[in-house]
Amino acid sequence: MKRKPFIAGNWKMYKNASEAVTLVQTIKAAAHTVSDVTIVICPPFTALGVVSKILTDTAIQLGAQNMYSAPEGAFTGEISPTMLKDVGCRYVILGHSERRQYFKEDDILIHEKVKTALKYSLVPIVCLGETLAEREAKKHFDIVKTQFDECLARLEKDDMAKVVIAYEPVWAIGTGKTATPDQAEQMHSYIRRLLNERYSQEVGNRIPILYGGSVKPDNTKSLMEKPNIDGALVGGASLKAESFAQIIIEAQQTHEAGINS
Ligand code: PGA
Repeated sequence: MKRKPFIAGNWKMYKNASEAVTLVQTIKAAAHTVSDVTIVICPPFTALGVVSKILTDTAIQLGAQNMYSAPEGAFTGEISPTMLKDVGCRYVILGHSERRQYFKEDDILIHEKVKTALKYSLVPIVCLGETLAEREAKKHFDIVKTQFDECLARLEKDDMAKVVIAYEPVWAIGTGKTATPDQAEQMHSYIRRLLNERYSQEVGNRIPILYGGSVKPDNTKSLMEKPNIDGALVGGASLKAESFAQIIIEAQQTHEAGINS
């Protein structure tokens, strides 16, 4: 049986607090009939507090887009895992390609962040993915394997079992270019194989692997039909309640059709 679908919205650096309130209220209303999808919303830090309050009586979970690898300290401008927990976060996106590209985060730092998140009971959504040049040079599997090994593979098995992985080819993020369902599935099954080999079949079977990169309502079904694609990390289309809700509904329907077929 397929894993429970998992849809996360990454709002990036969009929406001030009042815009966030309007958006999350509309998402909440639109998704209230959905029971079989894990839904996570990741607003900017400044909107976490207000969004958290609106989500208290719902099954929708709160996530952050980044955090630092220490619980507290003299780290001007950073946010700690305990602060995220305090405001109601259960998830945190780590290693997003925009963090790697614009803020020079490397696999070593990301690994530290992943370990700290787990230590403070946050679920890390760890992003892996190759650039266009790396894919054209046919290095995409090697790149993702290195990212996997450096960011994750030294975790204890119990910790690893709690992680969520997002495969996000950099060339598909915000470009309107989605990986084809077959391209995405190939990489997802490769990551699943790494999990099986490095950890165990049980860990491999359990971990949700999300696809990210120009996911929209009209490509959700064809992606989610693939056996190793468990959900999506959605950027642009999560900024509009209608498209985000439609992605969630597509994910639920595709899952139900898979169970019943
Ligand atoms: P996109 O972003 O859906 O706008 O391509 C995905 C992401 O960056 O997580």
